[in-house]
Amino acid sequence: MNTRETLKINARGHLEIGGADACELARRFGTPLYVFDEKHIRDMMAVYRDAIEEEYGGRGLVLYASKAFSCEAIYAIAKSERIGVDVVSGGELFTALEAGFPAEKIYMHGNNKLPYEIAEALDARVGRIVIDALSEADLIEEEAEKRGVVQGVLLRINPGVEAHTHAYVQTATPDSKFGFSVESGAAEAAASYVLSKRHLKLYGFHCHIGSQIFEKQSFVIVAEKCLKFIAAMREKFGFETEELDLGGGFGIWYSEEDPKISASDYRGYLDALFRAVKKACGGYGLKEPFILLEPGRSIVGEAGVTLYTVGAIKEIPGVRKYLAVDGGMFDNPRFCLYGSKYTAVLANRAAEKAEEIVAVAGKCCESGDLIGTAFNLPRAKTGDLLAVLSTGAYNYSMASNYNRNLIPPAVLVRGGEASYIVRPQSYRDLVRNDVIPDYLK
Ligand code: LLP
Repeated sequence: MNTRETLKINARGHLEIGGADACELARRFGTPLYVFDEKHIRDMMAVYRDAIEEEYGGRGLVLYASKAFSCEAIYAIAKSERIGVDVVSGGELFTALEAGFPAEKIYMHGNNKLPYEIAEALDARVGRIVIDALSEADLIEEEAEKRGVVQGVLLRINPGVEAHTHAYVQTATPDSKFGFSVESGAAEAAASYVLSKRHLKLYGFHCHIGSQIFEKQSFVIVAEKCLKFIAAMREKFGFETEELDLGGGFGIWYSEEDPKISASDYRGYLDALFRAVKKACGGYGLKEPFILLEPGRSIVGEAGVTLYTVGAIKEIPGVRKYLAVDGGMFDNPRFCLYGSKYTAVLANRAAEKAEEIVAVAGKCCESGDLIGTAFNLPRAKTGDLLAVLSTGAYNYSMASNYNRNLIPPAVLVRGGEASYIVRPQSYRDLVRNDVIPDYLK
């Protein structure tokens, strides 16, 4: 939404993130550094929360998909914005609980929840567990029975729609590790199985059709398919669906290939989705279910910027020019994994005209360690500050210590003031869990 509000060029010609001068941030906190604009995050949470409140008057909840960026501060922000969260592992659940996030607003996901993760979710009394396999239903039943409780659950269904950025495909025989296929009858069989469990209360269904989606129609089609399935479940089992979770997936701006989406554009997606739900409910004579959405990327993606210092510069005549930075695939593996495109600016010379196309390389020992191959920048010098934009989602959360590089710290900027939300790692942290067996000493 507001990369334009988050980012500015100030009178000194420096990039400003959430009102903080990027050069000051780099001087104070060092590089590489993840920087997050708190206002952007809160604004985006509010877009979803307010749309649901206005349309559904409390009969819905937005869950921040915390896989996009998980640390204690983000759960604290989500809590203060009165939204829920989805977690996908014991680690995310633990982080949310450590941050004091209310368990009843936590939805637990995962396609292969481990027995101890299910036990932890029950101990914490999470709001819902989203079942993605029959064996999970057995495990949850067992753990709930042990504790003498009834656990609220949703069932993840695969409605046979897969969406990617600008396109969606409807597949008759879906090949996915997620969910139970509606088409094949697996979803119906799973619903019947879950309904037979005494310690599970089935509230309804969940689906998620993909990520970085701009095609409004994808969301409309999936809503229609889910409601059709819900009507069939009433027909078959007399089951009244109370909750429908339509997942996340709303796209953001990374590069000139993507549209810039404003808050009102996001609202447009939601309105189209809500209209589709209402219309289908009307058509099937269904009571409108409590609606859940799970945006991740669109809440934190454009709120984040990564700052790097330019180091070695190598020009290979007739081939390309490489700027090497002090980060790389260990803080942002998305180009390596998906060929993802980003936009970069020289933060200390942000008002200067771009003059050349360069590749930005990381410092890891492999040739594929790139942040991208086509950044349009002024002629950079060693020591310049490079800002890569829209790195708030799936960067820190997918970072690693590859080559024993340190995962960069993260700061949150509020009204121009920055504070750590993830402190720097140290070399000591790297060896903390290492053990040399006695016979090697
Ligand atoms: N709900 C479920 C069940 C999901 O699997 C996901 C994302 C979301 C919600 C949030 O989707 P979002 O609103 O963030 O698009 N690492 C990849 C993205 C993986 C997304 C996985 N699931 C990337 O860097 O692009």
